[in-house]
Order: sequence, then structure tokens, then C-alpha cells
Amino acid sequence: MTFKYTWYGHGTHGLETGGYKILVDPFLTGNPAASTTADAVQCDFILVSHGHGDHIADAETVAKRTGALTIANFEIANWLDAKGVKTHGQHIGGGFHHPFGYVKLTQAIHGSGLPDGSYGGMPAGFLLTTKDGLKIYLSCDTGLFAGMSLIGDEGIDLAVLPIGDNFTMGPDDALRAVKLLRPKHVIPTHYDTWGLIAQDGPAWGARVNAETNTKAHVLKPGESFEI
Ligand code: NI
Ligand code: MN
Repeated sequence: MTFKYTWYGHGTHGLETGGYKILVDPFLTGNPAASTTADAVQCDFILVSHGHGDHIADAETVAKRTGALTIANFEIANWLDAKGVKTHGQHIGGGFHHPFGYVKLTQAIHGSGLPDGSYGGMPAGFLLTTKDGLKIYLSCDTGLFAGMSLIGDEGIDLAVLPIGDNFTMGPDDALRAVKLLRPKHVIPTHYDTWGLIAQDGPAWGARVNAETNTKAHVLKPGESFEI
């Protein structure tokens, strides 16, 4: 069983499983924390959680360059499809067996307006069950919600959560999220991109390790974690 997670900075993530590369929320152009570029990043699939520019900025260009199938909620899938991107639309609570694993869209408490003002549907997180049976939960942009306990009931191996505050959960609520989700491992993201969401990642990781049975892995952009 191997699964590799790479933080590309901010809310942009790389997943590798079963020989496939999956890029989540491509925001590399204009991202001061980006560890790669829209020209260089490789992927077979793209996941887009919601319509905000700091998650969808490079989706169209990377999808067209790589030929990656883009998975998103129905509204965002249609918006990208109209631009000539190959898409697969799903919606909250719905899962589908893709070649790399089963992807279920989960609830997120956030917005999803698209950069041109189009309606982007409801924001989502992703629960990926790999072909090896690993459960990977990316909450993407969200506030704390009680349903994280239900997601945790599935038995999460790795959770990737925002801790930046202001736009998403901050450190205190992200710690409460860990207690609801009960994952084996957690990685903090969506912080330190700009001063507005500056946080002390290592201090948060230390709190997780002290107060829960979850192991925190505090990465720098470009670093990876493998299960
Ligand atoms: Ni957002
Ligand atoms: Mn965001």
C-alpha cells in the first residue's frame, strides 16, 4: 500500500495512488507559496472543490495541457466543459469509481462563486478511497461542521485540513475537526500564503500530537508525505 501526498502550497495538493497522479485545486499562477508551476505540474486527473480563484485558477490550462479529466460539482463541471475541458460532474454525497479510486463529494461550509461571477454550486470536500482501501479526506475550504464526525466514522487514514483562519477554519476549530474526524494522520494547509492567513504550523501540529491520537505532519510547500 502506498499513497503519496504532496503540498504544492496554499490549498493545492498532489495525490499519487495506483500509478495515477491527481491534482487538487490547481492554483499555481499568482500563488506566492506555489512549489511548482502550471506549465510543469503533471496529472492524470484534476479535482476542483469550489469556484474560488485560489482553487480553480489553473484548472483549465492544466487540464488542456495534460488532457486530465476534471472532477467537480455539476455546476463547475459544466462551466469548465463549456471551455473545452473534459469533465465529470458529481455532487455532495455522491461517489463514483474512478480509475484511481472512489471519490465522494462531501459537505463544505464555504462559498463557490466562479471567477466570472457564474454560479458555482455548493462547495465540496473530497473523500477518496484508494484501490488499496486507504481513506483520504480533503476538507478543502470549510468552516467546522458537526458532520465531520460522520466522515470520521468511515475510518480516515489521512485528513488534509485548512488552518489559516479568516476564510476557513483556524487553528482552534481545525483541532476540533481532528477530534471529530479521528484520522490516523493530519496535514495542515491553506495558511501562510499571505499575511492574512499566517499561522504557526508546527505549534498547531504539537497541539494535535498532545491532545489527540492523530499524528500531525507539518509540511513545507513542495514536501510530501507517504503512507
Ligand atoms: Ni475558497
Ligand atoms: Mn481558498
